[in-house]
Amino acid sequence: MQEKYYIVTYGCQMNVHESEKIAGILRGMGYTEAQGTEDADIIVFNTCCIRENAENHAFGNIGALKKLKKQKPHLLIAVGGCMTQEKGKTEVLRKKFPFIDIMFGALNLEELEGLIVRKKNQKKKVIEVREKEGEIVEFTGAYRTSYPNAWVNIMYGCNNFCSYCIVPYVRGRERSRKPEHILNEVRELVAEGYKEITLLGQNVNSYGSDGTTNVTFAELLDQVASIEGNFRLRFMTSHPKDFNEDIVKVMQKHRKICRLVHLPVQSGSNEILKAMNRRYTREKYLSEIEMLREYFPEAEVTTDIIVGFPGETEEQYLETEALVKEVDYASAFTFVYSPRSGTKAAEMENQIPEEVQKDRIMRLVELVNSLTRKKSEKYLGKTVEILCEDYDGKKDLYLGRDEFGRMGYFKSEKDRVGQFVQIKITKANGISLYGELIEAK
Ligand code: 5AD
Ligand code: SF4
Repeated sequence: MQEKYYIVTYGCQMNVHESEKIAGILRGMGYTEAQGTEDADIIVFNTCCIRENAENHAFGNIGALKKLKKQKPHLLIAVGGCMTQEKGKTEVLRKKFPFIDIMFGALNLEELEGLIVRKKNQKKKVIEVREKEGEIVEFTGAYRTSYPNAWVNIMYGCNNFCSYCIVPYVRGRERSRKPEHILNEVRELVAEGYKEITLLGQNVNSYGSDGTTNVTFAELLDQVASIEGNFRLRFMTSHPKDFNEDIVKVMQKHRKICRLVHLPVQSGSNEILKAMNRRYTREKYLSEIEMLREYFPEAEVTTDIIVGFPGETEEQYLETEALVKEVDYASAFTFVYSPRSGTKAAEMENQIPEEVQKDRIMRLVELVNSLTRKKSEKYLGKTVEILCEDYDGKKDLYLGRDEFGRMGYFKSEKDRVGQFVQIKITKANGISLYGELIEAK
């Protein structure tokens, strides 16, 4: 009988895509997908460590497997991703969960096959976490599970050392993929019928600055958008310290590029931005948004915001609120600051009490939601183009997203997944839109 795998993913899009690579490796070894942990022969945890709750979540889920492992001793449990890259973490995991069989890192996931083979031949657990980033290993066997959307890494790692962030410590320095590898991957995906490509990197604007290539991000974007075919193009994440007009000009040249930019602001206060080591000011940030909207008045912006950073005063928090209103974000990921060991901010005095953090996050979430709701109302009666992604059996409706990432639901007799469709919006329910199908392209 064929052995089965089950992958549990935590964290960002980068991790979701890396789980697709892990699935590719496991399928290449002959494993097929399990329904859940119960019928799996190998369970892989692809972990995240960006905030403490992501870690706690993984700890809880790994711990819950103790009984299953006892009942099924042949079951392999592997833990990889960002958490194992943290200093001293494999030791903690080994002590807390002695039943883990394999540990690997985000920096050596491509070695997973060899580690599994090794584990099958020995009783001892296999712990192999690469400490320092190496050359990029080109890996083309990802098993993609999100048709018609596909993610393509353009670079790995981060050099920015924002004072709160653990990513540079666990993901290493910036390394860019060669343009020809990226272009070939996108060409293949488009030929296979993928309709939305998202270029991924921690800071896409510094693409190439590691010396891999002279091609800038704006040039790369231009080249990718020049690939023939009917597809949408997105990119994330842009860093406001070097988001620029060259990129916006490329967006103007190609209608394929969605007029939505994810531009994490983190805070609306210049003092806090400085303490965060973000290397831009509120004024520079706002001028970038203004520039973007001069080109495209309809452009939407999404962001990431942290509240309760060490030393954040009520006034400084209110500056963030004011900025959120001024930019009028389409949506925002909002986070409570979480101290990460090894980062500068974790050592700062004046950490903010939890009640204050909670109060601020609640107010901010309410503000962001009210903006999103207001934008939803503006959709009423309009016709929007949706890329159909899925069918929701419970609702008996198809669903997909518009250019700005808004979820739209509609009814159709025919299967529409993977098609661009026009829907006329009849109902706007908070963040979701409902509409009538007009025509299918
Ligand atoms: N605490 C809270 N949020 C964080 N982020 C990164 N590090 C932390 C932290 N220590 C957020 C930032 C980043 C997003 C991916 O996660 O907003 O943009
Ligand atoms: Fe973290 Fe800053 Fe790098 Fe983003 S740019 S991954 S927040 S260090």
